[in-house]
Amino acid sequence: MSRFPEQTSLTAAGEQIASAHRMRRLRRTEGLRRMVRETRLSPTDFICPVFVTGGRDVRQPIPSMPGQARLSVDQLPQEAAELRSLDIPAILLFGLPQSKDAVGSGAWDADGIVQRAVRELKEAQPDLVVVTDVCLCEYTDHGHCGLLDDDGSVLNDESVELLAETAVSQAAAGADIIAPSDMMDGRVGVIRRALDHAGFEDRTLLAYSAKFASGFYGPFRDAADSAPQFGDRRGYQMDPGNGREAMRAIERDLAEGADMVMVKPALAYLDLVRAARERFDVPLAAYNVSGEYAMLKAAVANGWIDEERVVLETLAGIRRAGADLILTYHAKEAARWLARRTG
Ligand code: PBG
Repeated sequence: MSRFPEQTSLTAAGEQIASAHRMRRLRRTEGLRRMVRETRLSPTDFICPVFVTGGRDVRQPIPSMPGQARLSVDQLPQEAAELRSLDIPAILLFGLPQSKDAVGSGAWDADGIVQRAVRELKEAQPDLVVVTDVCLCEYTDHGHCGLLDDDGSVLNDESVELLAETAVSQAAAGADIIAPSDMMDGRVGVIRRALDHAGFEDRTLLAYSAKFASGFYGPFRDAADSAPQFGDRRGYQMDPGNGREAMRAIERDLAEGADMVMVKPALAYLDLVRAARERFDVPLAAYNVSGEYAMLKAAVANGWIDEERVVLETLAGIRRAGADLILTYHAKEAARWLARRTG
């Protein structure tokens, strides 16, 4: 009860309304709060990204992404078993090849790092959904996502051919979901036709459709050693100001044959997650990227925020904006916290 006169001098009708509008009645106990919670997080919403590197018995921590490590292929069965036990349905693979060249030939090598990783995972844990990122930037010595012409600009159509070859080699290794992240024009359609032609009509395409030229990819480029050696990616990734263009990009990728689409990064683009949710009825993913992860971890390391609370709040926010799936480096920790809460 307020002690201020303007609030105690309500009419009888006013008192009735105030009582009827006591939202706090729904928040009194955790039992009540759980019952009326609109957005629920589940480990089945998560896709867990992993960096795969050469060698054996390697678990090499990534300094800019505390808690993440580059794993050698032999470490993957253990990782897969852990994901399954946490009820996380899917893993997303990024590869660090032994050597790089101008055309990124490690990307489509039948015995490349990602292809070996997929085979290892499929043998160890056939039910785990394996997602492969299709891009050349981890495999080119210049660090761009496609082939370059003599003056250093990225050649679109020639790059698309190599990306399609990469997708087919990943499917041949056993990948369930192929996820092109390169942002060349027309790649979804060419990859779809290449997969169909090679007998992989059954494989799913998750397009990184609305992928922005973002400063939030910084730690990833350390982890995957994929920073461009000159210039930047603004010529092929989207301008951060462009929301309507993002909707056009999603529409185009669906027309070309994407089964699922993505908005990336997540947090600075939640309006587009919501807009995409309202316009498109396909599964929608959001990528909670490396810089978002690193910022949160840095604040936690300083004791400035409570990690469990802010991670679950962040992931719930991405779901509430409308994402069905979240690609997140927090996947395993979040799944552990969720199991403890409901278990
Ligand atoms: C490859 C790729 C990138 C990310 C996913 N796939 C880097 C980039 O485009 O520079 C970023 C993921 C992250 O930051 O977590 N093109």
